[in-house]
Amino acid sequence: MGLDAGAQNVPDWENPDILGVNKLPYHATLQLPSKMKECQEIVSLDGKWLFHWSKNPDERPADFYKEDFDVSRWDKIDVPGNWQTQGYGVPIYININYPFFRNRPSVTTEPQDKSWTAYINRNPVGSYVTFVDVTPEMMTKNLILHFGGVHSAMYLWINGKMVGYSQNSMSPAEFDVTKFLREGKNRIAVEVYRWCDGSYLEDQDMWRLSGIFRSVELWVRPTVHITDYKVIPTLSNDYSAADINAEILVCNTGSQTVKNQKVVFNINNLDYQYVIKKIAPNDTVKVSINANIQNPKLWSAEKPNLYPFHIELFNGKQRTEHFDYQTGIKKVEVVGEVFKINGKNVKLRGVNRHDHHPITGRYVDDKTYEQDIRLMKQANINFLRTSHYPDREYIYELCDRYGIYVMDEANHETHGYGYANDVMGNDLSFQKAHVDRAESLVKRDINHPCVILWSLGNEGGVGPNIEAMYNKVKELDSTRPPFYDSDRRYSAIWDDSYLYPDDLRRNAQEVKDKPFMMREYAHAMGNSCGNLQEYWDVIYADSSICGAAIWDWVDQGLWQGDHYAYGGDFGDKPNDGPFCINGLIAPDRTPHPEYYEVQYVYQPLKFVRDTITGKISIINRDFFTEIDEYSITYDTVKVYEETFVNVAAHLKNDTPWAKKGFVVAKEQFCIESCVGMMIDGKPAQALQTPFGYVVFFHNGSVTIDNSGTLVSWVKDGEEILQSPLEPYFWKPENDNQSAAHFAERVAVWKDAAENRVLKSLHTSTADDALVITAEMSLPVGADLTVSYSVYNIGLIKVEMDYNPTAQNLPLMPKFGMRMRLNPDFVNIKYCGRGPWENYPDRKHSAFIGEYEMPLSDFQTDYIHPQDNGNRCDVWQFKIGSGHRTVVIDGCQPLCIRAWDYGEEDLTGARHPQDIARGKFINLNIDLNIHGVGGVDTWGKRTLPQYTIDGNKPWKYGFVLEAR
Ligand code: GAL
Ligand code: MG
Repeated sequence: MGLDAGAQNVPDWENPDILGVNKLPYHATLQLPSKMKECQEIVSLDGKWLFHWSKNPDERPADFYKEDFDVSRWDKIDVPGNWQTQGYGVPIYININYPFFRNRPSVTTEPQDKSWTAYINRNPVGSYVTFVDVTPEMMTKNLILHFGGVHSAMYLWINGKMVGYSQNSMSPAEFDVTKFLREGKNRIAVEVYRWCDGSYLEDQDMWRLSGIFRSVELWVRPTVHITDYKVIPTLSNDYSAADINAEILVCNTGSQTVKNQKVVFNINNLDYQYVIKKIAPNDTVKVSINANIQNPKLWSAEKPNLYPFHIELFNGKQRTEHFDYQTGIKKVEVVGEVFKINGKNVKLRGVNRHDHHPITGRYVDDKTYEQDIRLMKQANINFLRTSHYPDREYIYELCDRYGIYVMDEANHETHGYGYANDVMGNDLSFQKAHVDRAESLVKRDINHPCVILWSLGNEGGVGPNIEAMYNKVKELDSTRPPFYDSDRRYSAIWDDSYLYPDDLRRNAQEVKDKPFMMREYAHAMGNSCGNLQEYWDVIYADSSICGAAIWDWVDQGLWQGDHYAYGGDFGDKPNDGPFCINGLIAPDRTPHPEYYEVQYVYQPLKFVRDTITGKISIINRDFFTEIDEYSITYDTVKVYEETFVNVAAHLKNDTPWAKKGFVVAKEQFCIESCVGMMIDGKPAQALQTPFGYVVFFHNGSVTIDNSGTLVSWVKDGEEILQSPLEPYFWKPENDNQSAAHFAERVAVWKDAAENRVLKSLHTSTADDALVITAEMSLPVGADLTVSYSVYNIGLIKVEMDYNPTAQNLPLMPKFGMRMRLNPDFVNIKYCGRGPWENYPDRKHSAFIGEYEMPLSDFQTDYIHPQDNGNRCDVWQFKIGSGHRTVVIDGCQPLCIRAWDYGEEDLTGARHPQDIARGKFINLNIDLNIHGVGGVDTWGKRTLPQYTIDGNKPWKYGFVLEAR
């Protein structure tokens, strides 16, 4: 028996055999989260609690639970909340390794490295006190204290008496406190340990935060009450009818035998009842009620048809309890290699999500939940993996209602012992703890129709402990299959994550006995999510691939006054830096550019245009929604010299997640392309000086110096350039590229342009322009010719021609030029892809149009600064300072990036505010740029079709004009 906090023998929190003391059994969420307020049985204890933080167990105020212990001068802390986000201790962001010295089951072994946060803060303890008033009426009831989530282990005392202990931080802990409470004021004391032996199973890649982070409720219950219920619909083979089985547990906590307790299950407006003849004191009776629904409306993510139900308990005529919930009727099946929902080979267009808020950490409020699910639906995401633990109950209700398939995941990861380790899967002293996490998962969420798969965890062990979890899940629920990534024997679906699209195609073909999925793919760290379409071309082409889930939904940044913090920003050690900044959306839920690419690639409709007839047909990827449920619009738009048909499918009606008219799917077809700019001019006049050539046109001049560089551009007496227009082949890395050692591989390009050698410089006069041609060689082994055709009307056509002479040149980061303007040029208007940032491998969602925006919107401020802001297929780009505009017209489509800082300013900047801005405007004018990549951020590369081969000749041109 436990409850030996601080005794000289092993404490409960380092004893894997003690998972809880006096904990009530896990059970389903009894009242629909959105209706909790209507439930008269619940007294919320959320609010300010008294709080004391100690850096290790020895220093904790061990007697604080006693009634006479003076806490009047303690601080106040918000419950629910994490203590680290409220100024106590150090948040730690770490991925694979344990934040404490690994020596299970101990979490307090001295780390070898004294700089570790856990060296001094060996195992911080939060001591919490609050008071609750109990009325005489309440004293006649059964009183249960409910903790929605406490990280990582807790003791509970009431009025100085020990009540119990709990670990398993992401699931509720409940204690029967009837005999501990008294009439009047009661003192509740909770002691929370940052780490416990359970932390060996909680090694998820996330901020490691502690405290009472979910709501605390006092449930005031009739002595005879419903402890649990499970409502399981079963569909007939032909889908024409559903049996709904309600299994309801009623207990008698009183001291007298009770008779004739009526249980009512109301569904589809019908009452089904059962009278329990007799319940002895301390006994629990299980009631099974069957309802039947003919021609049921099925639940799916597309059509989330719900059947609300009520469960009531009557003592004679008097209704003593009443709960509201909802179910949905659906069938989940694995048929050979195919995963089916309601008989259809549905594709899971997924995302992983950590339960994260930039201010409240692991506590995410209802509004943010609603925003997340709304944004997911708007992005055509139909599948959510609750990586890597159960979230707060409300999110499941939203998924039921809005329509999202959920893989509900057990709070289990042991990555610190290695991926698919055979340590934790085999250590039988941890078997109970493994099973506890499977049981708590299924028991709480079983009634949610959104759940389609139970995940046994992430990156855990292999072996009997996993088998035991699997068996537990099977025992508790036969309607949704178990899933697990690390030991495939215990998974209904074969997972293989972060594959290149080609490997996905190949591996999925090889696996013959199960459906295939990537539980994680498209690592969305920083500027990422290239080649998303390539993945889905493979997924749609293979019926055995049931889908894939992006890693991950929201950047796990913690707000630190003027920026989002990541690993190391709190002095946390060891840490994994910005590796937690992998979201499609920012911590404040602002979508990143890649969010829109997901929205496009995940859209349920695909539009195809017959180039001969011009007819547009529509392919429907969904199964339960007809094309005519959308209104389809076709718009002809002219942009620059091009004509497009923009097609869009709009919602015909309001939904909970978007209004009528919202665009669910879209496509753009070019029906008339552009040939480029025709210039009608006469040659400008050149003057040779000791420094080079000055070429005059009617109201200005350009200077090409003796190195062949355009060093000055004057318009109406005003210099436009802050630094010359020069060839430039470098681009800073984005996160994907740095892990793939891109900069090292392509290092020769860094100063290739700077070290160019002029071979000849000459002028010639054509009919319409004066032409200055600079022939150069590049140290990498290539010839480069840059020519400037200057027209008297003030246009300057710049052309660059590259011919490799050496062999085996590495990839070119970008092919193009760069110049710097004075910092006033902050107004942008362009014809090209937008409005959001796009790159060659991530541009499907960014349609060609005419866009106008300030420079601050043109660039993307990634939380971890990196290359950003490109726009592809730009025919015309204007950047203005208020009184002056620089206009760039492509001789073919361009890639353009504009920043108020330079490439060099990104190096070493940890946060956006570290970037030295405002010295100039950095303008890159390119033919092409290396794609962002989209596989993983630990080595995989941008697909070859989105790279620039340094061994091929390249050329391009553009026309400059100052207005
Ligand atoms: C995965 C893991 C995730 C996360 C990701 C990297 O392998 O399951 O939890 O660590 O890598 O961001
Ligand atoms: Mg991991």
